[in-house]
Amino acid sequence: MNKIAIIGCGNMGLIYANSFLRYKIVTKENLLLVEKNTDRQQSLSAMNIGKVVTTDDKAIADCNILILAVKPQDFKELSQSLKNVINPTCVVLSIMAGTEMSFIQSALNHQFIVRAMPNLPVEISMGMTAFCASDNLPHDKIMLVENLLSTTGRTLYLKEEKQLNAVTALSGSGPAYFFYFMKHLVNAGVKMGLDEHVSNILAKQTMLGAFHLINNGQKTLDEYITSVSSKGGTTEAALKTFNAHDMGEVIIKALQNAESRAEELSIK
Ligand SMILES: NC(=O)c1ccc[n+]([C@@H]2O[C@H](COP(=O)([O-])OP(=O)(O)OC[C@H]3O[C@@H](n4cnc5c(N)ncnc54)[C@H](OP(=O)(O)O)[C@@H]3O)[C@@H](O)[C@H]2O)c1
Repeated sequence: MNKIAIIGCGNMGLIYANSFLRYKIVTKENLLLVEKNTDRQQSLSAMNIGKVVTTDDKAIADCNILILAVKPQDFKELSQSLKNVINPTCVVLSIMAGTEMSFIQSALNHQFIVRAMPNLPVEISMGMTAFCASDNLPHDKIMLVENLLSTTGRTLYLKEEKQLNAVTALSGSGPAYFFYFMKHLVNAGVKMGLDEHVSNILAKQTMLGAFHLINNGQKTLDEYITSVSSKGGTTEAALKTFNAHDMGEVIIKALQNAESRAEELSIK
């Protein structure tokens, strides 16, 4: 039976707690919610979804999985108390953005680390989480973490930690790009005289339908683009405008900037 400690039970920590319980990966008796914020401690206790403790609690030593879900800047201070109670065989799963595995290993004096980059739709079990593992991590421990992460959506194992910056730029920040595009589709509809709620429904359902086509259909992206764009037609008129403004290049540049920023922010 798994014994899990979630360190930092803010937005993400709470999502993981609820996802693990929903899929019965852990019982609430075996789930430690490690939180330092007193208001949050009270609201967590009222939820009755696990035992609310602080980082010096001896029960942390019994856990086979420990999840780091604090802000990266809080980790150094946290590591001071945590390294005294951590069990040497447990797996530490970190979702802290930009904090490299070697840094966590030396701060905690602990070898078994998994580093993951989730995205916002984990909130509704539709997330995309890419993760990598420290060199020496046994296969059964990798699978254990994979089973945990997949309670929040899809997962993808990466061999190389350095690819996590590109992942951050693509799927980590990605939901914001789709929200941005949707927002401008809705605005365009309103500018053309549609009611906002009508424009909203049209944009949302179109996004959903397009997603299911590319996910379930047989064609490539280029083939789908061609299927909607007849010669001299309306779609072609719109796509010509995108191309005239080098939208493809703008998107590449935007993601490269996000990737560079992830590199600049990383804690090594
Ligand atoms: N939100 C996202 O979409 C997302 C996506 C990918 C990765 N992440 C990563 O997920 C992590 C958590 O993000 P979040 O949005 O959930 O943050 P959050 O809501 O601020 O939650 C973090 C919680 O940890 C508490 N905390 C800080 N130091 C602690 C300690 N020593 N012991 C116990 N608890 C402690 C904080 O208390 P105080 O409020 O008192 O400081 C806060 O309640 C971050 O590292 C972030 O990079 C987030």
